[in-house]
Amino acid sequence: MNILAIESSCDETACAVIKDGTEILSSVVASSTAMHEKWGGIVPEVAAREQLSSILPVITEALTPFSQINALSAIRYQPIIIKNIDAIAVTVGPGLIGSLLIGVETAKTLALVTGKPIIPVNHVLAHMYANFLKTENRKRKADNAKFRHPSSVIRPPFPAISLVVSGGHTELFLMKSEKELQWLGGTIDDAAGEAFDKSARLLGFGSRGGVAIQETARKCQMPNAKCQIKLPRPLMYDRSLNFSFSGLKTAVMREVQTIKNNNTWNDEIISQFSHEVQEAITDVLVAKTMKAAELHDAKSIMISGGVASNSRLREKMKEVISRQSSVIRFLAPEAQYCTDNAAFIGSYAFSRGKQEDWHDVTAIPDLSVEE
Ligand code: KG4
Ligand code: ZN
Repeated sequence: MNILAIESSCDETACAVIKDGTEILSSVVASSTAMHEKWGGIVPEVAAREQLSSILPVITEALTPFSQINALSAIRYQPIIIKNIDAIAVTVGPGLIGSLLIGVETAKTLALVTGKPIIPVNHVLAHMYANFLKTENRKRKADNAKFRHPSSVIRPPFPAISLVVSGGHTELFLMKSEKELQWLGGTIDDAAGEAFDKSARLLGFGSRGGVAIQETARKCQMPNAKCQIKLPRPLMYDRSLNFSFSGLKTAVMREVQTIKNNNTWNDEIISQFSHEVQEAITDVLVAKTMKAAELHDAKSIMISGGVASNSRLREKMKEVISRQSSVIRFLAPEAQYCTDNAAFIGSYAFSRGKQEDWHDVTAIPDLSVEE
C-alpha cells in the first residue's frame, strides 16, 4: 500500500510516499526556520504564508520520478505517479492553525479530485513511527540483528516505552503493540525542546536551539566536577511520569544574569552552560524513561521527535539501558527522521490510521495526545 503523506503543522512543509508503512519511496522537506531567525522565533503568520508557497512544489517533487544513490553508488530510478497512490494521509494537529490548514485543505482537494481515501494523522503520535521506517542505516543493522521482521525492518519487541521529545511536546507512552498506545505522562509546563530553545536564546544563539547547544557543549573544557554551572533536574526523583522544564529555564536566566553582572561572561562559560543545560535535560529524560520501562516491564525503549536527534541523549540512553538491563532493546530514528518530516506521517497512517470522509477532516490545533 502506497501512502502519500503531507505534513504542515509548524514551519516545515513536507511530503512523502511510504510503501507498507516502512519503505520511503520519496521524502521532501522544505523549512522556513531560517526565515524566522531574524524575529527570534516562529511567527505563525509568516510560517503559514511559507506553507502556502511551498506545498505544491513539495508535493510535486515527492511525486516526480527521482534518483537515489544507494550504498554502491548505483543509481536507481523510482517513478511515483498519483495513480500508484492508495491513500492520502495528512497531519490535522496539534500545530499552528494557519500552517495546518494549508496541508489539510490541500490533502482534501487531492482526495476530492483523485477519489483516494484520506487519513487524518495526529502529529505527536506519528513521531514515534519514525522508528518503523526502513532507512539505509537501519536496514544494515537489521541484516545483522537476531530480531528481524520479514520486511527487514527492525521491529521492537513489545511492550515498548516510547518517549516523544519535540519542540512542543515531551510525552511518554506505553506501546503494547504497533496499534495499541497508552499515554503515561508528559510535561506539565515547557517541553524539552522548548527548554533547549529558550536556554539557547538566553545564551545568545538566537533561534538555533538544541543544535547550537549540542555543538557548543562539545567545546566545554570542564565537563565534570569543575564545571561552575549547576542547574536543577526538575521532577527527576518524583514518583510520577510527568516532566517540568520551566524551572530550568528560570535557573538558566538567573545564572546568566549573575555571571554577566560579575563580568565573567566568556566563550568558556557559554560552553559550560551548554554542557550543563544538555546534561540536565537529558538526565531527566533518561531517568523518567527508565522509570516507565521498569514499571511496565518494557522489552524495548524508543525515542523520537526533534530532541531525539541529540547525540548526548542517544548516547546516555544506550549507556543506561545496557547498564541496567540485558533484555531491553533501544531504538532511535536516524537524525533526519527525528525532526519534522512526512515519512513518519505515512508510517503512522499505515499502522494506525483510520480513513475518514474528506468532508469530516478538519485542522485541530489543540489535538490531544491522549485518545
Ligand atoms: O520534532 P520537531 O522537529 O518539531 C516539533 O514537532 O516541535 O522538534 C523541534 C525541536 C526544537 O525544539 C529543536 O531545538 C529540537 O527539536 N532539536 C534538538 C536537536 N535538534 C533539534 N534539541 C537538542 N539537540 C538537537 N540536536
Ligand atoms: Zn514534530
